[in-house]
Amino acid sequence: MNSKPLQHALGAGALALSLLFFGCADFSRGPGPVPPDTVTVDTGGGGDVIAGDTGGGCVPGDYTTEIYPLLQLSCDSCHASSGSAGSTGLVFTGSAADDYAEITGLVETGNPASSVLVTKGTGKAHGGGAVFSPGGEEEQALICWISAGAPQ
Ligand code: HEC
Repeated sequence: MNSKPLQHALGAGALALSLLFFGCADFSRGPGPVPPDTVTVDTGGGGDVIAGDTGGGCVPGDYTTEIYPLLQLSCDSCHASSGSAGSTGLVFTGSAADDYAEITGLVETGNPASSVLVTKGTGKAHGGGAVFSPGGEEEQALICWISAGAPQ
């Protein structure tokens, strides 16, 4: 009696099953939860920006430990005294406290998504292009912080 074809068939079956299992495992994770209460702000061109939650649901990052490092790491390759944007109104010194006034001079707490810090950072009329992708996490973090009043 030759059992090879049977073993072969079982092997192929097991493989198909495991593929099916992994395929399903992926789907079962599904999309993440959709944040409630999001609003869309028309920024007047270049498409809409999802401005996140204005109902107080977004948690603003801490200026010194989150917002400042995010900006500094992403932007100071140009926005430093020796960089190509060293003569603009945004020049990082490396001190969160020293740079606070300069940074908050570029935000509009009444209209966070229109803040020049946000619009330039995402590439609108910006010599440095889109450093943060429009609608991305970094933009959301900035908008959330600004809508909370850009606290230090
Ligand atoms: C590749 C170089 C480069 C990078 C990186 C860069 N920028 Fe700029 N940025 C420029 C240049 C050049 C200008 C001056 C021309 C202009 O206004 O777009 C500028 C101007 C600006 C201004 C206007 C400042 C003023 O005086 O009013 C803002 C605000 C700004 N950038 C924000 C950012 C932010 C936020 C980031 C990081 C997310 C960033 N930039 C990263 C090159 C850069």
